[in-house]
Amino acid sequence: MLVSAKEMLTKAKAGHYGVGQFNINNLEWTKAILQTAQENNSPVILGVSEGAGKYMCGFKTVTEMTKAMIDELGITVPVALHLDHGTYEGAKKCIEAGFSSIMFDGSSLPIEENIAKTKELVATCNKLGLSLEAEVGAIGGEEDGVVGAGEFADPDECKKIADLGVTMLAAGIGNIHGKYPANWPGLNFDVLDQIQQRTGEMPLVLHGGTGIPDDMVKRAISLGVSKINVNTECQLVFAAATRKYIEEGKDEVGKGFDPRKLLAPGTQAIKDKVKEKMEMFGSIDKA
Ligand code: 13P
Repeated sequence: MLVSAKEMLTKAKAGHYGVGQFNINNLEWTKAILQTAQENNSPVILGVSEGAGKYMCGFKTVTEMTKAMIDELGITVPVALHLDHGTYEGAKKCIEAGFSSIMFDGSSLPIEENIAKTKELVATCNKLGLSLEAEVGAIGGEEDGVVGAGEFADPDECKKIADLGVTMLAAGIGNIHGKYPANWPGLNFDVLDQIQQRTGEMPLVLHGGTGIPDDMVKRAISLGVSKINVNTECQLVFAAATRKYIEEGKDEVGKGFDPRKLLAPGTQAIKDKVKEKMEMFGSIDKA
């Protein structure tokens, strides 16, 4: 069964640890993350961008695959299936398809429009028992071809959006998606602290988890971050392990070309990475 992210994040905020959102791209990704969560007794959030949803043949396919996998694999830890950086239209589609959690990213809209659309989605999600993430201040880097500049969110705007009754709030604090440039100045903890002071109990979300040094992630958790999104890092380790398998010529030995063998090292690399992140976030044994 899929659950809303509300309870797991409320517990994480109170317990001063973080829950990982790991983005999925296909069956192997989903299976690897679900198994790792179960093996480590950790709650988990599966992130699906609109692009990944399209790639996996639509949100309904993703929902049905995930639910069936939870059932067939005997997954008992809390799992939320979450739309990542959704448009208003994408959010509606995911609600219809049976996602248990939605992110509406109105950060590129004028704040009044972001507020109006977020408000409407709060009402819908509340009625259906789904969690809703909103965003203020664009996260930098590239996401599905959209490049943001890495702004700092305005703490007063964060409060306005938090007061609408969203479940969790993503706020730009200098974080960016993808790899960080060598001259990246780091997260802005002053802005994060101001946001947490204005938003109180609201779990905050740190996007762009790939490449943020562990000590910065831990400090962010101590300042109210309860959900950390990781995507690129799993892609990098998957690609590296697959490349190694092929470079070592293993696909040419026996039935090494069988996709179940070819994709195994990459899948294991995702499991190892997800476990490492869960340990760092402190979510192990918090299911
Ligand atoms: P990374 O790809 O940088 O890990 O960011 C993931 C993310 O924030 C998804 O919303």
